[in-house]
Amino acid sequence: SVVATTAVRGRFLDIQNTVAQAREIHDQVRYVEDGLLISQNGKIQWFGSWQEGQQHLPVGVEVQHYPEQLIVPGFIDTHIHFPQTEMVGAYGEQLLEWLNTYTFPTELQFSDKAYADQIAQFFVQELLKNGTTTALVFCTVHTESVDALFEAAGQHQMRLIAGKVMMDRHAPEGLCDTPDSAYADSKALIEKWHGKGRNLYAITPRFAPTSTPEQLAKAGQLKAEYPDVYVHTHLSENKNEIAWVKDLFPEQQGYLDVYHHFGLTGSHSVFAHCVHLEDAEWDCMHQTDSAIAFCPTSNLFLGSGLFPLNKTWEKQVKVGLGTDIGAGTSFNQLQTLNEAYKVQQLQGDKLSAFESLYHATLGGAKALSLDDKLGNFNLGKEADFVVLDLKATALQALRQQRAKGIEDALFALMTMGDDRNIHATYIFGQKAYVQN
Ligand code: GUN
Ligand code: ZN
Repeated sequence: SVVATTAVRGRFLDIQNTVAQAREIHDQVRYVEDGLLISQNGKIQWFGSWQEGQQHLPVGVEVQHYPEQLIVPGFIDTHIHFPQTEMVGAYGEQLLEWLNTYTFPTELQFSDKAYADQIAQFFVQELLKNGTTTALVFCTVHTESVDALFEAAGQHQMRLIAGKVMMDRHAPEGLCDTPDSAYADSKALIEKWHGKGRNLYAITPRFAPTSTPEQLAKAGQLKAEYPDVYVHTHLSENKNEIAWVKDLFPEQQGYLDVYHHFGLTGSHSVFAHCVHLEDAEWDCMHQTDSAIAFCPTSNLFLGSGLFPLNKTWEKQVKVGLGTDIGAGTSFNQLQTLNEAYKVQQLQGDKLSAFESLYHATLGGAKALSLDDKLGNFNLGKEADFVVLDLKATALQALRQQRAKGIEDALFALMTMGDDRNIHATYIFGQKAYVQN
């Protein structure tokens, strides 16, 4: 119907196909200076130049024109904790002390559905105002927190992947479940939410230290029963954490082998951080087609280390970007890319603007096995996109006036940009946010 049709005219930039090597990205860049995107029932029905596109416009459809802006596919956040929204910037600790001092007390509040609702609403608004249209999200151990989040995301038809944390040791009693209750609660949530609307479910053991072998076995059993459900956890973030896992699981070959042993690796498994993987672990990640969420603001804030992004190309392991709020310090993917660039600089490596765009969009979609549905403006994909204002501040305007082409302009945006640069966010063809 005409009501479900949206037409947007402007300057479009995306990456046309997934690639095996970073150097191939340049050839996949699609830049349409005066373009038109028509979406119908949430999906891209036509995309190309305004010149050619006009004749495809259904009668009565109003064209929303953004002559000054830049339109890119919606940003994809492959690792974030919604209950940690309120605790960004918790001072002075690295991972394990940070969890005990700040994180666990914060997460205890989410047994209260009304509280979870309130923070879930705030969280979804924050995603929208940062141009993030899909995220893979940690909730808390409480099933209420999962209901709260999917309900909030559903109001905007946002494609979200989330799950209940499974955790049965080394945490406060109020945050612990049991192997059986974690299994039963997760199963009920899968039945309730997975594939309902655009929602998808992730089996979410927090990390190996907070699950007994019995609980990880239950997680693996669930994954075997629901093979297209995701697995989402943490891996090799911090040196003390890795030593602890080796202590707790002496029979396993290493940290990743714990998850692999319990059937938790695979094409729909996403492991946050992977800062300190050993060679055998890189091989296992590749062989199982598992994915990494690279979280630069978090890795720097918690002092976890420098993620070797180039190894993902070398070892052919899928990778997406994660903000990891609240260990990460920004919801914004431009800010996250700004920090990713510096992580590369500190290792003597480069991160180009186009590779950055790839990781934030199509590459992230591939990491989530959603590149058939998300990540660029190809026909039939879901119409999630962001309208960017490149000149949100006086300094940005000065810099952009001197930009030498689109790649330089994009790089400057990624270095200086934040939520002020998000003019509007479209979800499933509909305008879900506009900056006021
Ligand atoms: N490892 C286990 N839990 C967490 C968490 O909440 N945040 C981060 N950054 N790492 C973790
Ligand atoms: Zn995390």
